[in-house]
Amino acid sequence: MIGKKPAMGWNSWNTFGNNITEELLLQIADVMAEQGYKEAGYEYLVIDDCWALKERDMQGNLVPDPEKFPHGIKAVADYVHNRGLKFGIYSCAGILTCAGYPSSYDHEFQDARLFAEWGVDFLKYDFCNFPENADCVNRYHIMSMALKASGREILFSACNWGMHDSWNWMRSIGVHMYRSTGDIFDNYQSFMSIFQSQLEHLSQSGPYCYNDMDMLTVGMYNQGNVAIGKPCTDNEYKMQFSLWCLAGVPLILGADIRTLAPKMKELLLNKELIAIDQDEECRPPFVVSKRSVMVPVENREDAIEPLRRVKDKLFTFLKHVSGNEFIIAYYNLFEEEQEILCTFADAGIPYACGYGLAMKDIFTGEDLGVIRDYHRVSVSGHDCRLYRCRLVPCNGYRA
Ligand code: GLA
Repeated sequence: MIGKKPAMGWNSWNTFGNNITEELLLQIADVMAEQGYKEAGYEYLVIDDCWALKERDMQGNLVPDPEKFPHGIKAVADYVHNRGLKFGIYSCAGILTCAGYPSSYDHEFQDARLFAEWGVDFLKYDFCNFPENADCVNRYHIMSMALKASGREILFSACNWGMHDSWNWMRSIGVHMYRSTGDIFDNYQSFMSIFQSQLEHLSQSGPYCYNDMDMLTVGMYNQGNVAIGKPCTDNEYKMQFSLWCLAGVPLILGADIRTLAPKMKELLLNKELIAIDQDEECRPPFVVSKRSVMVPVENREDAIEPLRRVKDKLFTFLKHVSGNEFIIAYYNLFEEEQEILCTFADAGIPYACGYGLAMKDIFTGEDLGVIRDYHRVSVSGHDCRLYRCRLVPCNGYRA
């Protein structure tokens, strides 16, 4: 069955945008198959927008751009399958795709059949140029049915950017994952605001239908198609990847994995983090505590009173994972180092219960032994710490 766990793979948009070719994609397939990505679980290679010609053919079929794909799309899909991977493609629910190529509105069943013939295993389905009076839920449902009728098992990856509160209905129309925000860009603010905006919706994300927080930018360092603003630091990429894993959402890589820095490759292949993402129980993280500050609202010099808004700056999460284990995770959104205190009573473990937590640092492997009552840790600016924990009886008084 497809879609039980959050999908893992690679998508062409972040790095290549319009500049995709067969040659590049085959190189990516080779890297995925040969350099540990496939073993780590990254199985879908997905072509995003810009693969087609601007016109359909006489039969109304989509046509791959022969300059970009001289042997057609099926040849790419075959190559990808031969490398033990799965193949994904892109279309859109509107009249034209976001980049202005023909899209599947009123061609849903025809396009789904064509994709199935080509050997497509995954369809990303965007939302640009959607007719004003058309019904969004219905059009996504039509494509969902078209995929079911296509004769091939195709993972349906809807991408309507969270419009019409997508988390409330995507599961009910057969979608396997749904993009829940606008596009990610390769900077700290972008991924952090995506994560924070989805935190309250993660309880609706689970087996067979996951909230999709967009393709990762980890390791891009402002190379490629989504560079806006300041490039991320290595620690910020560590925050991004581990937040996606804690959220238990699809892990779709966006960086050019042919040239990825070794440190970033290590991060993206980190078995412990991937195991958190792919955990059987698929539970969202619980916010044990957060520290918030009031910050001035920018660009409102005309306001009589200075406007201020709440910004959450320090997070402590606890995520229940299978085997009676837990992940405790600290995120420091301040630019300066901060001490974070986790009072175990806030995480369901009061002192008097007689249990402590055996804690192991996920990044360093350091074993902290059994900690009781509280855990205090220093986290540098824009950085995080994650621990795998289990309950251990402590000597002495038990409630
Ligand atoms: C939209 C999507 C992106 C990408 C582009 C392609 O912006 O949200 O993920 O697919 O379209 O044009």
